[in-house]
Amino acid sequence: MAGFPVTRLRRLRGSESVRRIAQETRLSAQDFIYPLFVTHGFDRREPIPTMPGCFQVSLDRLPEEILEVVELGISGVLLFGIPAYKDGVGTDAYAEQGIVQEAVRVIKTRWPNLLVVTDVCLCEYTDHGHCGIVRDGQVDNDATLDLLSRTAVTQARAGADIVAPSAMMDGQVAAIRKALDAEGLKDTPIMAYAAKYASAFYGPFRVAAGSAPQFGDRRGYQMDPANWRMALREVELDVEEGADLVMVKPALAYLDVIARVRDRVSLPLVAYNVSGEYSMVKAAAKNGWLDERRATLEVLTAIKRAGADVILTYHAKEAARWLRGER
Ligand code: PBG
Repeated sequence: MAGFPVTRLRRLRGSESVRRIAQETRLSAQDFIYPLFVTHGFDRREPIPTMPGCFQVSLDRLPEEILEVVELGISGVLLFGIPAYKDGVGTDAYAEQGIVQEAVRVIKTRWPNLLVVTDVCLCEYTDHGHCGIVRDGQVDNDATLDLLSRTAVTQARAGADIVAPSAMMDGQVAAIRKALDAEGLKDTPIMAYAAKYASAFYGPFRVAAGSAPQFGDRRGYQMDPANWRMALREVELDVEEGADLVMVKPALAYLDVIARVRDRVSLPLVAYNVSGEYSMVKAAAKNGWLDERRATLEVLTAIKRAGADVILTYHAKEAARWLRGER
């Protein structure tokens, strides 16, 4: 006799203690990596208007942020840079003293064991805002690979633990692997933004990073939100090219993609809970339309349940506090 009234699924929901052992997915601060925006100047901690609770911080104020991250038990940080100037070829992305490279040094001097991941892309550094070099109005894939490789090498040399290419250029993982190996950086892992969609949910980030494309859009290199089989191809290719971890981005509207990648790939799977997903919750909470704590933890739990091992999230600090019982 399998059915009702003998079987009652509510039995496993009857009390806190029973619900606790029946719980399949458990979130912890260890699941999170916190993205940070670093900028030039002194004593700056500029609020990002589109992302309440997030700031662009100058290097002298970076330690305050890092101290909190470490104290909360968050697994690491992902660095994005706001350069002092932009040009056609994104020079500051691969400058030996670039803003991200310097930020890595600041962190590693005081916290050698904190995981530091660096975003490898040109869009924050180019005056046209595209993720690669533009030739004849097009983003030139192959010409961009060398610059991405140089970006990754300078970041790894500065002490980054993991480099994370997000430009969606074909062959970027292979090119970066080759360049790192040639520089004696063969032990630096690559976290590949493998399935990265052309998403409206990056909107708040582009204000934060000043990286909106000045003409056209990113659909010529980022994926069509309608596709999931293509995401599997992207992931397979990145694995073949030498990726050590693979990422699906965004996360919340792509839980099916996360689950399908999880089924097929044994590498660690990272999901990026992007700026728009964050700011939606923040805006609704501010209006009193959502319970912020519950909504945030539900979103993060769902991403983990779908199959993510690691979640890149702007909610990391507050979620870590809530998970240890703070209000
Ligand atoms: C590209 C990059 C983007 C994000 C991370 N890396 C923006 C884009 O592709 O336009 C978006 C992250 C977010 O929205 O939180 N360097």
